[in-house]
Amino acid sequence: MGKRIGPLGREAASLALAALLGAASAFAQSAAGIPEEDRADQGAPGLHRIALYPTPDLAPAGGTAFLRWSPTPFGASVTRDGSHLYLLDLEIEGLPEPASLDGSRSWVAWVTTPVMDPVIRLGEVGNGRFPGLGPVAFDKFVILISAEASPDPPSRRGRLALRGASPSTRVLPDNHLMVPVSGSGEAGADPASHSAMDHGAMDHAAMGHGAPTDELAWPHPPMLPETPMIPGLGRLRPKPLPFLPRLAGDRSAPEATPSRVARLADGQTLDLIAGAVRRRIHGREYLMYGFNGQYPGPLIHVDQAATIFVNFENRTRWPTAIHWHGIRLDNAFDGVPGLTQDPVPPGGRFQYTIHFPDAGLYWYHPHHREEVQQDLGLYGNMLVEAPPELWYGPVHREEVLLLDDLLLADDGSLYPWGEERATHALMGRFGNLFLVNGEPRYELEVARGEVIRFFLTNVSNTRTFNLSFGEPGTHRVKVVGSDLSKFEREEWVDSVVLAPAERYIVEVRYDEAGEHAIENRVRALEHTFGSYFSRVTPLGAARVTDEEADPETAPDWNRLRANPEVSAEVDAYRDRFDDPPDYELALTLEVEGLDPAIMQRMRADRVFFAPVEWADTMPMMNSVASPEEARWIVREPATGRENEEIEWRFRVGDVVRVRLRNDAAAIHAMQHPFHIHGQRFLVTARNGSPVQNQVFKDTMLIAAGETVDILLEITNPGKWMAHCHIAEHLEAGMKFLFTVDP
Ligand code: C2O
Ligand code: CU
Repeated sequence: MGKRIGPLGREAASLALAALLGAASAFAQSAAGIPEEDRADQGAPGLHRIALYPTPDLAPAGGTAFLRWSPTPFGASVTRDGSHLYLLDLEIEGLPEPASLDGSRSWVAWVTTPVMDPVIRLGEVGNGRFPGLGPVAFDKFVILISAEASPDPPSRRGRLALRGASPSTRVLPDNHLMVPVSGSGEAGADPASHSAMDHGAMDHAAMGHGAPTDELAWPHPPMLPETPMIPGLGRLRPKPLPFLPRLAGDRSAPEATPSRVARLADGQTLDLIAGAVRRRIHGREYLMYGFNGQYPGPLIHVDQAATIFVNFENRTRWPTAIHWHGIRLDNAFDGVPGLTQDPVPPGGRFQYTIHFPDAGLYWYHPHHREEVQQDLGLYGNMLVEAPPELWYGPVHREEVLLLDDLLLADDGSLYPWGEERATHALMGRFGNLFLVNGEPRYELEVARGEVIRFFLTNVSNTRTFNLSFGEPGTHRVKVVGSDLSKFEREEWVDSVVLAPAERYIVEVRYDEAGEHAIENRVRALEHTFGSYFSRVTPLGAARVTDEEADPETAPDWNRLRANPEVSAEVDAYRDRFDDPPDYELALTLEVEGLDPAIMQRMRADRVFFAPVEWADTMPMMNSVASPEEARWIVREPATGRENEEIEWRFRVGDVVRVRLRNDAAAIHAMQHPFHIHGQRFLVTARNGSPVQNQVFKDTMLIAAGETVDILLEITNPGKWMAHCHIAEHLEAGMKFLFTVDP
């Protein structure tokens, strides 16, 4: 949908204005007369519910449209191309009998774009509640309710009664063009300022071959070609000193080798050394970090119920500790410096004992300045195998993929990290070079009909992926598991949405020979002109040969299996799903001391928050914010406590209902992949809609403005952390602690 000005432009604009007014009035009362406070779990007014306005002669008829995720096994519902996918619940009251309007027989709901094309019939409505209309996958849309001669007319003919506009329609060029910009960043012409069009290829690959400079300075942050430079920000640079690993004093850094499998039996020990490695990407050398000289770190492969020992040695120049993400292990080995252990200083050692109670896919990473250390390559997977009868269904092959992105400056060098503190504290550090298992291009040779089980982990600092595996119709993708268990029921999907630290286990079968691109496909919001644009980034490809795989190896794969053993575990809690929350948390942001031009821009952007920020469309303001300026907050409204002031105490055996509300009134709201250490939980509802297909999780995506209800199962004693897994949000304070007594 472009910004075409057509004969309908005026109608679209006035609808957008109505939506703005609606955002305010929806605070008071919903159309069906349900007081606002009883809607607390339904998501943010103005973001997840929008008012339906009558034509003047039909006042006081009206209604509310609730935007719900179309059912999905993931944390957000999107199409393969990355459009958000909603079902609409309409609540309508006060409409007259349609017959009272020149012989009409039915009220019919429609959805269309702001330029009124195409118009899609949602179905017959009337006064009352009409749930689950759609799905709707327009970036910006308008809901119309008209009186029609039949309940299912092929097109809208009848007179209009109610209309409303999606929250995304509120983003108009005017929102920003009207904002006067002034700030220190504006002073003088900026010799370093680049035109956005110079950087077209940066999202795909490290294109630069410039000579590395000797004294380190902050380069201009790379921009997406679709996002123009915000006037007034061109000269701003992060305040912390820039940090890059240096070879000086560490000339011995080995050439990184690909990850190897460390198959460990119960009781065995792994030596794990974090240190500098030399990496070659697109022909250019980079000094980064790795475990045991490998990048990613060794794939630790164990049997369920095994216990292993890890002798960790820190040969980086940062204090650190290793966290075994998702493992319900002994608290003393959870690897959170300052909480479960002292940081391991440069040159220091620590021995971890890791017991693996749960089968599935896990990962390990540092838990100190991880926005630097993890980003430089300190991450690896753990594959915990169940006995054969409890493992996933039979497939031809299993592949483990770690998805990452690395930020390169325009000259192809690593964009530095902050020395004393993090940069990118607003949206987190998005990279522009995508890596699968550390490589810019992942290749897999596959036989026709072969079923590959992919174990996927998102290890990026902040990017949420929407991963697809090829052209529609050439293959099938089945999601079978996530963080700590299988799903109750397998599902077919078009793409896989993974927020940072989440894992999904999917099975893919290619039915056609040829090359099938593995891609990240998203639609991002360009804020200055309020338009959406597509980003399609290739991560690699599956090359399907003409050779035929033996179908008997994966019999019945076409069937979606149920996993009654998972349902049985969930059943133990199902009657608690409707219990009111025991605890409530709000996720929000406070900023201080940011450049006035950034502040003005952020205030203007509050008109609409995209549910998920799929790309960094504001790299300049993002990069210069450090935790000194941006404080991300977990707030407990009941006590007023924030972040580490929060004091929760449980006992093993407790089952706790927690409601997390992503504050849409924050100066900037965005998604948070929220992680809880040492336990597992179920996401029971999103914006009041029950989640139907359960899976045990340790990390969940909470979209901007969304309210998520979870059921937290307390099984593991100790002092644990819960935090946002956007590495920079963790650095910027978004964490709290809870104690579990035995
Ligand atoms: Cu993956 Cu607290 O971490
Ligand atoms: Cu966050």
